[in-house]
This record gives sequence, C-alpha cells and structure tokens, in this order.
Amino acid sequence: MPVPVGIIGAGPAGLLLSHLLHRAGIESVVLEARSRSYVEQRVRAGVLEHPTVQLLDEVGLGDRLHREGLRHGGIHLLFDGQRHHIDFTELAGSAITVYGQQEVVKDLIAARLAAGGDIRFEVADVELHGLDTGRPRISFTQDGQPESLECQIVAGCDGFHGVSRRSIPAGVLTAFEREYPFAWLGILAEAPPSSPELIYAYHERGFALHSMRSPRVTRNYLQVPPDEDISLWPDTRIWDELQTRLATAGEPALTEGPVIDKGVTPMRSFVVEPMQHGRLFLAGDAAHIVPPTGAKGMNLAMADVRVLAGAIARFLQDGQDDLLRAYSDTCLRRVWRAEHFSWWMTSMLHCFPDADPFQHQLQLSQLRYTVSSRAAATTLAENYVGLPIEGR
Ligand code: APR
Ligand code: PHB
Repeated sequence: MPVPVGIIGAGPAGLLLSHLLHRAGIESVVLEARSRSYVEQRVRAGVLEHPTVQLLDEVGLGDRLHREGLRHGGIHLLFDGQRHHIDFTELAGSAITVYGQQEVVKDLIAARLAAGGDIRFEVADVELHGLDTGRPRISFTQDGQPESLECQIVAGCDGFHGVSRRSIPAGVLTAFEREYPFAWLGILAEAPPSSPELIYAYHERGFALHSMRSPRVTRNYLQVPPDEDISLWPDTRIWDELQTRLATAGEPALTEGPVIDKGVTPMRSFVVEPMQHGRLFLAGDAAHIVPPTGAKGMNLAMADVRVLAGAIARFLQDGQDDLLRAYSDTCLRRVWRAEHFSWWMTSMLHCFPDADPFQHQLQLSQLRYTVSSRAAATTLAENYVGLPIEGR
C-alpha cells in the first residue's frame, strides 16, 4: 500500500508537517538520518515568532512551551556603549517566545509517537525516484536492509545539506545566494541571563548577541572570521570578548558560568525557486537559509509546512491541486520578506572586513534612526515578531 506522504527529515519542518497531516486524517512516514537522541539534543535556534506560537497552540503543542518558554516583549540594540530598547508589545502589539528548537523537536516527536506516528530514525542512503510521476518512491536502508516506500507526495524537509533538493534535475531550480564574510561562534553556558531580554550589539570588534534558554542558561554569540578554528577560542577568551562587546554604560558585567556547548555557524542567505518539482515539495532549510540575525529560520520552516499541509489535504481529500500548485509562490512571499529582514539586520549589526569609515558611519546612522524613529522601530518590531502566515 502506498503511503500518502513520505517526509524526509525529522527537524521542525518534517515533524510539524507529519503532525498537521495526522490532525487532518492523513498518514505519513518520516525518514531521519540521525538518531532520536541526536535530533533532540542538537542545539539550534531559540526564538518563536508570535504566529508560530499561535500555530503551535492551535494544534495542541503549546503546553510546555507556555510553561517553560520565556515571553519577551522586546529586544535591546547596543551601540556606542548604550542599550536601546525596542518595545515589540507597544509597537507591534505582540511578543516573541524564547524556547529552544530542540525543545520544539522533543514536543513534536512525543506527540507523533503518542499518536502512533511512524518516524524511522537512523535510516541511510535515502534516494528519490519517479518524482515526475504520480507515484514517487523513496528508497533507503534501515539496519542494513534495503527498503522502499511508494508515496503520493514526497516532502523534502531534510535541511540545507539534505538529499531532496539535490534530487531535482539540473536546470529546474534557480538559486539565489549570498555568503557573508564572517561566522557566529555560539556558546551555551550555565549562567543566569544578565538581561531580561536579548541584546544585539554592534561593536568595533564585531557583532555580539546575548540570548538565553532558561533562567539558569544563557546562549551567547560572537562574530568571528568564516571557518574559524574553534580551538583558538578557549572559554576564557570567549567570555572576555563577550564582556568587551556587550559592555553597557551603567550595567554590571555579564554573569559568567561553565560553557556546556560550543560551535561555529556559517552565515548565508539562500533561496531556491520554485520550492517544488513534480510530486516533491521542499520545505524549511531544504529550500532556503537565512543568516540567524533575524531569528527567522525555524519560523520560516514551520510557516512553510503549515501551507503545505493545507495544500496536501486539499489534494488528497478533495482532488484539487490548486493549493499545491500555488505552494511555492505562497511560501516564497514570506521567505523573501524574511530574507530581506535577516540580510538587513545582519548588514546593520556586523563589521564587514572590507568596510571603510564611511560604511561604519552609515551603519551607526541606521542604528540611531532605528532606535529613535517610531516608524523605523515599528518596522523592526513587526518583522521580528512575525507577519501573519498567508494561506492559513
Ligand atoms: N536523509 C534523511 N534525513 C536527513 C538527510 C537525509 N539524506 N539529510 C538531512 N536529514 C535530516 C537532518 O538530520 C535533520 O534532522 O533532516 C533534518 C533537517 O532538519 P533541520 O536541519 O532542522 O531543518 P528544518 O526542519 O527545515 O528546520 C529549519 O533548522 O537549521 C535550523 O536555523 C534553522 O531553525 C531552522 C531550522
Ligand atoms: C538564540 O537564542 O539562539 C538566538 C536568538 C536570536 C537570534 C539568533 C539566535 O537572532
């Protein structure tokens, strides 16, 4: 018997799609290369937009998120040693929730397994066949045994390095890409947050971000050269650099603590169009990447699959393919808005190695305008808290 929907990847996109389809009465199989504990422990993004929280609430996934997530009504921009508050609640009428991506993934896996969902972890050699036929097939190996899954629809939710996008024949997709001449070194530390809300800092030594996961755990980032060797950054050097870049007039130094996770993330902007070929639909990082400065990656992934779940239900249950045909265009409007916002935040807050003093003055002027004009601050606020998801 064919499976209605085969989903590659158990990140936020693949798991939420499986959950939404189940609620619509459509079964799916999720194929994941890594183990359950690996995907549940992997430290990734941590900011949920207001529309993402609404979506998770609507589909019964809001309990732990509201209990343990931290609701933030704004962020701080720090430059010239001064912090400036951008008040989202006042300017945009809503807030964000700080809740780790791996917590979202844990909640989704628990919900799928409790409902008898079929998630196959640690599969290998995933290949897609017959995408331009009405019966695509996924081959893979599990426990060394070759397996095959016939489907009606395949959802490629396997991230930037996955197999799905690469399975689309050459010439079908147009790629838009920008690489940035820096990366982020991120740490998770057992130290209470030193500010109730996130601090984004523009400093002559480079960008820094103070974020958090709980009242006991902070998450901090530093701009570093691309492909930076992490062994150059012992914990004491990281804390010294964070203290320098995040120093604020009239505020105490950051509270330090043991570093429990550490890694370097490259920064890129990337979009492929269309997000579809035949019966394969790409969602999340498989189709687009944003630099993390706007905190949009996980939110975009979940917005994509909200649109995809509705389109698949209409196709499989009503025999209408209009929403599936519109899927890519519908998603790309939101994707490009987030691409612009993330590029803008990145450009305003980082030190570009080739920047001259003129460029530095332009960035400072943009920062001063953003914190002093209600119109400019509102633009930041409404993009950050998230625009409504189209197609809902
Ligand atoms: N076969 C099966 N699974 C695969 C394969 C493959 N060939 N390649 C990758 N995967 C799995 C990965 O192990 C991962 O668990 O696909 C999953 C993709 O999940 P994510 O990378 O989390 O992507 P997505 O669900 O789109 O979520 C986007 O992730 O990178 C962050 O900032 C980004 O927050 C955003 C979010
Ligand atoms: C995080 O907490 O991991 C985080 C927060 C805001 C960002 C990026 C990452 O812009």
